[in-house]
Amino acid sequence: MDERKVQNEFTLKDQTVENFRPIKVIVVGAGLCGILAAIRIPERMRNVELIVYEKSEKVGGVWWLSKYPGVACDVPSHSYQYSFAPNPNWSDLYAPGSEIQQYFEGVAKRFGAMRFIKTNHKVEHAEWNDSEKKWKVKIRNLVTDEEINDESDIFITARGQLSEPSWPDIPGFESFKGKVMHSGQWDDTYDFRNKKIGVIGNGSSAIQIIPQLQKVQGTTLTCFMRSPTWISPSFGDVAMEALGLDPTATAFTPEQKAAFTSDPEEYLRIRKVFEDDGNLIQDTTILSHPTQVAFQTLFRENMQKKLASRPDLASLLIPSFAPGCRRVTPGRGFLESLQEPNVTVVSSPISSITPTGITSASSDKYDFDVLICATGFRVASSPQFPILGRNALPLSTRWSEHPSTYLSVAVDQFPNLFFMFGPNSAIGFGSLTKILEGQADYIFKLVRKLQKEDYASMEPLPERVKDFEEYVDTYFRNTVYMDQCNSWYKSKDGKKVVGLWPGSTLHALEALRAPRWEDWKYEVVGGKEGRKKNALSWLGNGRSVTQDKGGGDPSWYLNVDEIEVPIDGRPEENQKYRNRPWGY
Ligand SMILES: Cc1cc2nc3c(=O)[nH]c(=O)nc-3n(C[C@H](O)[C@H](O)[C@H](O)COP(=O)(O)OP(=O)(O)OC[C@H]3O[C@@H](n4cnc5c(N)ncnc54)[C@H](O)[C@@H]3O)c2cc1C
Ligand SMILES: NC(=O)c1ccc[n+]([C@@H]2O[C@H](COP(=O)([O-])OP(=O)(O)OC[C@H]3O[C@@H](n4cnc5c(N)ncnc54)[C@H](OP(=O)(O)O)[C@@H]3O)[C@@H](O)[C@H]2O)c1
Ligand SMILES: *[C@@H]1O[C@H](CO)[C@@H](O)[C@H](O)[C@H]1NC(C)=O
Ligand SMILES: *[C@@H]1O[C@H](CO)[C@@H](O)[C@H](O)[C@H]1NC(C)=O
Ligand SMILES: *[C@@H]1O[C@H](CO)[C@@H](O)[C@H](O)[C@H]1NC(C)=O
Ligand SMILES: *[C@@H]1O[C@H](CO)[C@@H](O)[C@H](O)[C@H]1NC(C)=O
Repeated sequence: MDERKVQNEFTLKDQTVENFRPIKVIVVGAGLCGILAAIRIPERMRNVELIVYEKSEKVGGVWWLSKYPGVACDVPSHSYQYSFAPNPNWSDLYAPGSEIQQYFEGVAKRFGAMRFIKTNHKVEHAEWNDSEKKWKVKIRNLVTDEEINDESDIFITARGQLSEPSWPDIPGFESFKGKVMHSGQWDDTYDFRNKKIGVIGNGSSAIQIIPQLQKVQGTTLTCFMRSPTWISPSFGDVAMEALGLDPTATAFTPEQKAAFTSDPEEYLRIRKVFEDDGNLIQDTTILSHPTQVAFQTLFRENMQKKLASRPDLASLLIPSFAPGCRRVTPGRGFLESLQEPNVTVVSSPISSITPTGITSASSDKYDFDVLICATGFRVASSPQFPILGRNALPLSTRWSEHPSTYLSVAVDQFPNLFFMFGPNSAIGFGSLTKILEGQADYIFKLVRKLQKEDYASMEPLPERVKDFEEYVDTYFRNTVYMDQCNSWYKSKDGKKVVGLWPGSTLHALEALRAPRWEDWKYEVVGGKEGRKKNALSWLGNGRSVTQDKGGGDPSWYLNVDEIEVPIDGRPEENQKYRNRPWGY
């Protein structure tokens, strides 16, 4: 017998079909992703109580935290910005970090995101309570040291992957008596003049730091570089040439900036040249693809040319793995700086750290005033604070071997937990901004479904998480990312790519555009009682909010028709149809 029959007669819910029932969302982190959440959620939903906790004193994420000299964008800035907030004023094709931080802070203010952001608040614990269908979250106010208890229907991590410094695990590290810094935890009050500096690491950060410190008066640098890195000609060169600009003159003049400001259409054309360049680079990531082979030749020649006077460094610095296996960095001035008399490159591994400096495996001893660890971040691991899902399962246990997700945004057994810039979410070549926007838009669709259709929770089916993992592993098998290098893209055992999305940015945007709802399982609001109710009761009172005063445009579907009339038999002239995403 239909259980509903024995219940009271069905009555209409007294609300419009939009069903903006009150829900609460907590977001961790106010970098690119957290700010985006604080712009989009209020734009697309009503009655969402939103709170973004940020542990730092300012927003901007890595661009606030990374204060080392030389920190800058490694892709054209005209592509590293929100698609909806183009900045015509970038000072350089590779804008410095502080300018990027100001951009994010400026956008956060302009779009009203600051209303939702609490800085100096660190999330320390989050646990799903299944009887209440809520996330219970503990937060520390870092100014007063007070502990705060909060709760929400939905918990979104936007904590970044490159913001928790990874310190080198070297014997004696604690014993060093001089100054110690990490690229992600810089002390900008420190005076480097006349200092003996040891730099550990040669990833993207070291490549930007070394040329800057080399120039400081009276410094000597010793750079400990365990494994080679590709130094590329700059990503934007081809696009700059396509625009008729000189790729070596990357600073923009006031006239150029004024032109970008006064002529948004022309600026859009320029942005599209950079964006197209980045979006069509995928072949480069496929091992043995002719473009990858050509890239490797180009990079090798570029590095050999720059290192012509130092064949010893050339053999040391030019990698054997495919370019792109670890992030390729333009590294302006890096190879040049390594050849300066006050810079020494040490390739012998570090065997220990002493109170005064470093001892290498070849037993050479080096003394330093300051040690710079450009040793990267704790990436392929769950957050440093506990996140407990169903049956108090810790996320760190769920991910003990390696992280796995459904389409990078969620994982089974963790209802209403969504990841921004989570595992398998980044892109190896090019800007991260658009792929992260695509993931964010997907998550906001999930939040809206939970709200509108009276679902208390949703989580991906475990079989779909497995399917995605299999897809990821298979996709990457034939790519440069699985070549022989260390990189943050890989799991700890080096067997899997866990940092990158398995495909291009355009692939991700299409995959995420329309959620496959059948890959999720749901619980309705109200538990057992809720299940007995008419599952379509969210249809409400038969009215739409747009009929109410101030509720919107009652004829919103009437617009200027932008579809071109197709011309029979002239398919090449019907391009406009193909300029938009396909299908539903
Ligand atoms: C030096 C550097 C340069 C980079 N350059 C580029 C580039 O040129 N192009 C590119 O595409 N990408 C670049 N990246 C990658 C960059 O990480 C992403 O592009 C993007 O900025 C990530 O934004 P996010 O909001 O996800 O994370 P983040 O910017 O890392 O922000 C996360 C925020 O979460 C906060 N947080 C973390 N844990 C907690 C907690 N428990 N409680 C409260 N708050 C918390 C952090 O304080 C931080 O502010 C770079 C990264 C680094 C480190
Ligand atoms: N805009 C930019 O240009 C920019 C700048 C900085 C960072 N980023 C982003 O941030 C990511 C991380 O860059 P990152 O340079 O900070 O970190 P990284 O790429 O992870 O590099 C860390 C470096 O430290 C070395 N290292 C770690 N532990 C060591 C030890 N015990 N002894 C000796 N060497 C050690 C590593 O050597 P091995 O390689 O041998 O392990 C590696 O060279 C980049 O991939 C990029 O996405 C971008
Ligand atoms: C760019 O800079 C100009 C001049 O300083 C200023 O008038 C303009 O508002 C700026 N544009 C943006 C989008 O910040
Ligand atoms: C969940 O909430 C209920 C009701 O408030 C409480 O009794 C229970 O102890 C909570 N469960 C957990 C695991 O905290
Ligand atoms: C290192 O070289 C730079 C210039 O290339 C110079 O300014 C600096 O003083 C030098 N340091 C020493 C100790 O020579
Ligand atoms: C990093 O250090 C290793 C260790 O010698 C070296 O082979 C490699 O070329 C270095 N990378 C860069 C970019 O210098």
